Amino acid sequence: MKTIINHLAENQVVSRDDLRKLLTNITKEEQEYLAEKAREVRHQVYGHDVYTRGLIEFTNYCKNDCYYCGIRRSNKQASRYRLTKEDILLCCKEGYELGFRTFVLQGGEDGYSTDDYIEDLVRSMKEEYPDCAVTLSIGERSYESYKRLYDAGADRYLLRHETANEEHYGILHPKELTLQNRKQCLINLKNIGYQVGCGFMVGSPGQTVDNLIDDLEFVKELAPHMVGIGPFIPHKDTPFAEKEQGTLEMTLRLLSIIRLMNPHVLLPATTALGTIHPKGREQGILAGANVVMPNLSPVEVRKKYMLYDNKICTGDEAAECRVCLQKRMESIGYCLVVDRGDYK
Ligand code: 5AD
Ligand code: FES
Repeated sequence: MKTIINHLAENQVVSRDDLRKLLTNITKEEQEYLAEKAREVRHQVYGHDVYTRGLIEFTNYCKNDCYYCGIRRSNKQASRYRLTKEDILLCCKEGYELGFRTFVLQGGEDGYSTDDYIEDLVRSMKEEYPDCAVTLSIGERSYESYKRLYDAGADRYLLRHETANEEHYGILHPKELTLQNRKQCLINLKNIGYQVGCGFMVGSPGQTVDNLIDDLEFVKELAPHMVGIGPFIPHKDTPFAEKEQGTLEMTLRLLSIIRLMNPHVLLPATTALGTIHPKGREQGILAGANVVMPNLSPVEVRKKYMLYDNKICTGDEAAECRVCLQKRMESIGYCLVVDRGDYK
């Protein structure tokens, strides 16, 4: 196993068979060795800095019906909200004062989020905070729409591919959503010039080890700037309510493999990882991650952006999360930095 890990660290690739071994037959000591190698690479590229992004969950209206997601349109229990432009700019103001230099506008696929609306929002954010990066995470849109928002000043776009396997994609989504369209969106975003993030859930229903290998190969081929992964966590009001959640170990293992396959990639230790284990985000950083994405949304709406059950930080003010994360990172020898946190 160490030979495989060393080969991966030196060449940034291994065969599917070797990936299968890493994902199935690894001991605790071997996984620690894998994490150590991933940390080494991460230190070479990003040192001990941890980048931070302020997440603004600005709408939980969504026209889609993904089976795993708590804000799917069929969830009649979800109490819907939409922040106003003024609310959003206030989040940015607070975030800026706290040292955030990247704002992520994330929301469901909301009909209210027209090109005109988002374009105006992005322009205002860039005008008030020209030294900040604006990231959009608002789902699948046309090439023309992505282009307009890019021209308005958006720097980055997050769109998890969710799974790179057609059959598995069909288990997670209703048939109006296709992997082909998802992939085309990512290619369009990249061609337009965005810094792009893809990603997937670990342990989602129906996921096989082969699916995960497909994900790793897809990431390698797309060569995105960022990869967001976190454990699948069931939400009580979705068709997957009774499914099992993804594990900490598998998520950490994948973080390390992704770091070794893509040394420069921006890799968040996600809120979902922090939700399944009290030290999940710290362990994520120690496995090779280099980004955290705390919430900047007003506390009044936080409980309403429930993609999965028991999400952490829904009662904490942005300032509390900032201090909390800083302490957490310092406790493991890392440092939250005031920086846009661009891809190196
Ligand atoms: N568990 C974990 N992650 C989820 N997401 C959506 N629902 C869940 C869930 N139940 C992730 C998806 C989406 C991102 C915004 O959140 O991967 O792309
Ligand atoms: Fe939100 Fe710790 S990061 S309370």
